[in-house]
This record gives sequence, C-alpha cells and structure tokens, in this order.
Amino acid sequence: MSKRFYITTAIDYVNGQPHLGHAYEKVVADVIARARRSLGQEVFFLTGLDEHGQKVQQAAQAEGKAPQAYCDELARQWITFVHKLGISNDDFVRTTQPRHKAVVQALLQKLYDRGELYKAPYRGWYSWKEETFLTEKDRRPDGTFDPVWGEVTELVEENWYFRMSKYQHWLIGYIQEHPEFVHPETRRNEVLSFLQSQPLEDLCISRPAARLSWGIPLPFDPDYVNYVWFDALTNYFSIPVAWGDPEARAALAGYYQPAAEPAPGLRLWPADIHVIGKDIVRFHAIYWPIMLHAAGIEPPRQVLVHGWWQKDGQKMSKTTGNVVDPVAVIDEWGLDAFRYYVLRELDIGPDGNWTDASFRARYSAELANGLGNLVNRSLSMLRRYRQGVVPAPHDELAPDAQRVTSEVRSCLEQNRLQAGLVSIWTLVTRANQYVDHTAPFKLAKDPAQASRLDQILYNLAETCRVLAVLLWPYLPTTAARIYAQLGLPGEPSRFAEAAWGGLRAGHVVGQPEVLFPRKDH
Ligand code: ME8
Ligand code: MG
Repeated sequence: MSKRFYITTAIDYVNGQPHLGHAYEKVVADVIARARRSLGQEVFFLTGLDEHGQKVQQAAQAEGKAPQAYCDELARQWITFVHKLGISNDDFVRTTQPRHKAVVQALLQKLYDRGELYKAPYRGWYSWKEETFLTEKDRRPDGTFDPVWGEVTELVEENWYFRMSKYQHWLIGYIQEHPEFVHPETRRNEVLSFLQSQPLEDLCISRPAARLSWGIPLPFDPDYVNYVWFDALTNYFSIPVAWGDPEARAALAGYYQPAAEPAPGLRLWPADIHVIGKDIVRFHAIYWPIMLHAAGIEPPRQVLVHGWWQKDGQKMSKTTGNVVDPVAVIDEWGLDAFRYYVLRELDIGPDGNWTDASFRARYSAELANGLGNLVNRSLSMLRRYRQGVVPAPHDELAPDAQRVTSEVRSCLEQNRLQAGLVSIWTLVTRANQYVDHTAPFKLAKDPAQASRLDQILYNLAETCRVLAVLLWPYLPTTAARIYAQLGLPGEPSRFAEAAWGGLRAGHVVGQPEVLFPRKDH
C-alpha cells in the first residue's frame, strides 16, 4: 500500500463558536484535498475537535454538566457545521476519544523512558478564581492584575517538563534544510528568527490533577494530567496510529496496545500538510516537530499558515456584533458562493477583510454574470438551435482551455488556490467574449451559417465541460451541476478529463438551470 497524501486542519476548541475563520481553514484544506484526489493521489483528510483543558472543565461546571456530556453536545453542533461546509474529510477526531488518549499516553511514556521528561517546580502568578496561571502579558500597565482575575498569588507547584531546549539547534538545521517546512516564506522567517534570537525553554507538559482533572493522565504519574497543547498536537499522529499505519505503530512499539478490531493499515505518516492559522505557528513549527523528533518520529512535511479574517477592517467580535456567520451566508447565497468568495478574495498567507459589498460584487459579476451566464446561454442555445445535440468537435477555444488547464494544474500542485481561480476565470471571460463576438443568435437566423454555428456551439459546450472539471476542487456542487446539465454521468472529479474534446458528436445535453440566481439588493 502506498502512502496517502495526508492533510489536516487545526482542531477547534470545542467550547468556542464556529466562525468564519474555522470555516475558511476547513474550506482551504478541503480544496487541497480534492485537488490531490482529482490529480490522482490517494488522500486522507482529517479535521476535528480539541476538548480538554481548564476552560472546558470550567464551562461544563458552570452549566452543571459533566465535561464529557458537555463536549458531546457541542461536538454535535461542530459536526453539523462541518457538513454544512461540504468538506470531504475522511475522519473526525475528538481528543476525548479512547483511540486518541491511548496514543498520547504511549507517546508520553516513550518520551519518559528516553529521559526526555523531568519534574521541577513551576513558579507563577495564579488566579484562584479563574484557576489558571497568569503571565506577564496579563499585567496592566501599572503592574497589577485586573480584578476579573480575583485573588492572584505567587504559587509554586511541581510539574513535568519536556527537554525541548536541547533540540533548538536540531530544529534550526531542520528548517534550514527543509525550506518547504513552514510556508509561506514570511512565516518561516519569523520562526527561524525567533529560534535564532533567544534560547528555547523547556516545555511544561503537565497540570496537577488536583486542580485540573479534565485531561489525559500522565501514565507514569497519575497525579498529573497532560497539558492541553501536547494532547492536541498529538491528534495528527494518533489518527494514523488508529488506522493502523504500520510505520506510526512501529514508532510506538511496546507502548501502544492496538484495539481488538483490525485496522486497515493505511500509510499516512508523515503528514503532508498541516493547515493552520497564524496565531498557532509556534506550536506547530517548534513544539510539534521537536516532540516527534525526541520520540524518534519523522516530522510533518509542511505547516501551511493562513492569515486571519477581519470584517470591515476590524477584528471580528461577538460582543460588538461585528461577525460573519458562515452558516447564515451559506443559507442565503449557497455553499459554493461562500467557498468561492473566501478562496478568491484571500490568498493563503495574508490577512483578509470580509465586506458584504465585495461579497455581493463578486457574486454578481463573477458567479451570476460570469460563470452562471456562460453555462446557461451555452446550453440554452445548443437546445434551441440543435435540440441539445452536440455537433462535431471543433477546437477554436482549445488553446485557451489548454493554457488554463495547465496553469490550474500547476497552481493546484503548489496549493496556489487563489491563483488557480483567477486563471479559471480568464477562461470564463474568454468564452463569454466569444459569445459576444461570434453572436450565435444572429448566425442562427441564417441557414448558410449552420456549420459556423455548429462550431461555436461545440466550443461553448466543451468549454463548460472543461470548466466543470477545473472547478471541481473549489466548487464541487456547481461542478457536478454543470456536468449534470451537460447530460454527463458521474462527477467531474478527475483532472485528466479536462483534456479538450471530451464531448462527443451526437451526445444530448440536459436541461440548463440557473447556477447562481441574480439577487437585487
Ligand atoms: O487554536 N481568521 O483552536 P481555535 C482565520 N484548539 N482563521 C482563524 C480566525 C480568523 N479570524 N480565528 C481563528 C485552537 N482561526 C487550538 C488548535 S491544533 C493542534 C489546536 C483559526 O478554535 C486559528 O488560527 O482557537 C486556528 O488555526 C483555527 O481557527 C482553530 O482555532
Ligand atoms: Mg483561537
């Protein structure tokens, strides 16, 4: 069995609200996953939830619920959210699942046996009310802590530490030798300059079970639970182990007891891409590769960092009401309109700014009047003038389609999703101009122009077919609808089918239907 292309998103905090940032990240990962499948690779796409920690324990307590029951309720809402986005994930991990916990404990025990963990006093400012250690960042300008924290005292407690500092030089070398490890380049430079400018500290990886019970117990010291970030990062590895990845299991040999049911033995590790937001780069580009390396496990191949969305130039915030609700947008405009906007508006890397005006402008110009109009008039004319029967192949638009197809292929191979859409729309525009220039509605009135009209109708229908294939990773529903309207079976999910000339003479197309209804606001 060959290794699958393995892509993940961050796992979301179960007690947070699903918002535009979460939706964007999942859509980006979904397009990459679908693109690789379309290009012929086997793919495994993982997303899920981060469920342990102080905040969850406290929120459950405040609602008078057991933490697991509280998480189960919220998880149902998250899973509904994921379905709403139409994403093609192969599994959904929850860090409270036994299959995950077993791997976290195995990894911890292996690190312990290798001498990578030690116990030492942790000293810090502790908020008894919020039951959490505060940092220097929580101090007000006058040096005091905000009264919201209640009584704050200096507290010393024993904790477990991971010897992260000793791998600092290894990691610098690793990042230098693997330029693709952190992408885009600006994020890679930030990580490198952080590592080169100060000594890395060891990582505290435990919390005393006496004050935080909602976590995974340390297998070698049950008075402690595992720190939530160590637990969360491990999800990317625990799922390959659960699916029986032979190399992942070999790395935990002697530490991990497989479940009774046989696993399919998928080869997944190392992960090809972890898609994450800019705020959690340090965890993924520093802690995670070091944790793995210290345990004798290969690091992931790439951490792909996207920017953050704002709304109307401001940070989104529930309290001010300045938010974009992706579910409301999808309900009003359709899933593919949402996917299109976020992918077309924002490249992977910089921060983005959602405005309703630009959403509407793109919807109207690029979807309704661009793609939608092209497909609708191409099919309508073919039905009106030729009863829907495809004429003999002709290749007037073939050079345009071929150029765009090869551009899109290279964009998809490099995860340049926005550039791929820009390229696809050059073909949409070209074909719409072709209609305007050749004016088939005029030719149709002149029987002497019948063969010219045949040529044009073929070029248009075939361009629509090619567009469906190119669009499939981005807008799978729309792509499938175009195929269905063309009367073609199956889904346009194989990139190879973008080759010009797929429509055969004599094939009968189906009924055109409006893809993106015009909305007058
Ligand atoms: O950080 N725009 O979870 P999370 C774009 N559980 N992306 C955004 C965003 C915004 N406005 N706001 C958040 C966690 N994100 C941890 C992850 S992974 C082992 C553990 C992104 O629910 C954010 O950058 O706070 C992150 O990648 C993801 O949403 C989940 O954030
Ligand atoms: Mg967050």
